[in-house]
Amino acid sequence: MSIIRKAVIPVAGLGTRFLPITKAQPKEMLPLVDKPVIQHVVEEAIRAGVDSIVLVTGRGKQAIENHFDVAYELEDTLQRRGKTEDLQTVRGVTALSQFAYVRQGEPLGLGHAVLCARHAVGNEPFALLLGDDVFAEEHPALESLVAAYERTGKSVVGVQEVPLEHVSRYGIVNAPKDATTVWDVTRIVEKPKPADAPSRFAVVGRYILSPRVFEHLAALEPGVGGEYQLTDALMELAEEGQLVACPIPAKRFDTGNKLDYLKANVEFALKREDLGADFLAYLREVVK
Ligand code: G1P
Repeated sequence: MSIIRKAVIPVAGLGTRFLPITKAQPKEMLPLVDKPVIQHVVEEAIRAGVDSIVLVTGRGKQAIENHFDVAYELEDTLQRRGKTEDLQTVRGVTALSQFAYVRQGEPLGLGHAVLCARHAVGNEPFALLLGDDVFAEEHPALESLVAAYERTGKSVVGVQEVPLEHVSRYGIVNAPKDATTVWDVTRIVEKPKPADAPSRFAVVGRYILSPRVFEHLAALEPGVGGEYQLTDALMELAEEGQLVACPIPAKRFDTGNKLDYLKANVEFALKREDLGADFLAYLREVVK
């Protein structure tokens, strides 16, 4: 069994990048074909050996809790109608893991969201997955971070090289010339200007964190916009020599971005056994 038993997934964000669909619906419930983005992220955590999921949620996000809960009326109806496959699909979602929910009452930033999960996590290392980032299923993104944690005993950030004009969207770490294996982080900067960025290696929403991070988070001063930045607490870990970066070679989609979301849907659909061939034929027909 993995030594990383718990995964924290913050889902309290308002999803303003995706209005109007997010007006009355959590952005995490947007589908990739027929499965909500949040389920893809939960399944990635489970593939990495996690056995319990802590969702940091907020007002208006009940659809997420309902999705992972028993749907009694639906299950009863499917059972009576003999719809065995559908019943398995519905029950399979609930059986994925154990789920716990904590509320982030105010939108005070990612650092604050992670701190809200402190009591649910306790004094053990945990995985943190940000719901907007989804990786192609054949690449075990989180698994390589777990392996890096087991080898180094240090907290791990998953990183990918991004174009220079995108560095101001991410937390950026220092990087060696040969950035192909795990390296020590000595600097991490949140959303730098391209000229100030220590490299083009961006943190891409996957972390393994030691419980020490909670002490740094609890001591944080609020940053820009009154928000508590996770990156500031990670910089404290880096200064203690307790943070490494692990490159993630997998294809990534930022599903909080409309174009990336559309691309993810196309690629996930093309890989589906039941849809892929017909969908490809259709695409060839329309893209002439
Ligand atoms: C957050 C983090 C940032 C990280 C990014 C990954 O930013 O603050 O360090 O690189 O997620 O997606 P956000 O996208 O919430 O602005």
